Amino acid sequence: MIPLAVGEPELPVACHILRAGAEAWERDDTAYTPNSGIAPLRRAIAAKLDRYNGYRVSDEQVHVTSGGAQALHMAMSFTLEAGSEILIPDPGYPTFSMTPRLLGAVPVPYPLSSPHGFRPDLTELESLVTPSTRALLINSPSNPLGVVFDRTTVAALLAFASRHDLWVISDEVYEYLTWMSIWRVERHQLLTLSATGYRAWAPPVGAGERQRRWVGAAGAQRGVRGSGSGPLVLAC
Ligand SMILES: Cc1ncc(COP(=O)(O)O)c(C=O)c1O
Repeated sequence: MIPLAVGEPELPVACHILRAGAEAWERDDTAYTPNSGIAPLRRAIAAKLDRYNGYRVSDEQVHVTSGGAQALHMAMSFTLEAGSEILIPDPGYPTFSMTPRLLGAVPVPYPLSSPHGFRPDLTELESLVTPSTRALLINSPSNPLGVVFDRTTVAALLAFASRHDLWVISDEVYEYLTWMSIWRVERHQLLTLSATGYRAWAPPVGAGERQRRWVGAAGAQRGVRGSGSGPLVLAC
């Protein structure tokens, strides 16, 4: 039996990372840090997005979290309220359904099944939208399926979200963790045309007051259509 429940990579932590941690410890670099993360780290993440993903954000748009669960919680609490519905992948990482419940919102699963190559079926997605639907959560590369959405799927999902005025929360934590011989992540396949962490994208048009309030709370900017300087990046 091969246990597949815990997503722990079998690679050891790289030496330079261990060394940097040990050196910080020895310097007693252990006091509180700014809530959004230390400036050099936010700068390095913004530089990574620019260099490897061809995507520009300012350091101020990067907010470092203690892991993915916190980032998911923040992205959802910026975009959902009690009674809101969020479309989540099924099968999917369990936190995708637990976090909305914690906020009084309703997770609505959309199937990723083999007849559709484990990609979302747009007709099915359409049938799940109600007046309470506020957000679409996408996880590509996927846990637990490993599937990477192709360019056509990504474009169709963005058009779907735009049509229904939905936020898109994109979980791309497995950018560098794929079955390379089967699925390879190309830059254009990542939903936001870049990667790392969680994006809460503002609905592109027409969300009025709701959008302004949320954007203010998140400190984020509108991003889908390139108006404004891009979304808040939650990097874990
Ligand atoms: C798709 C996905 N998102 C988020 C997380 C949460 O990450 P963390 O353990 O850093 O909270 C995981 C963890 O396995 C995951 O698989």
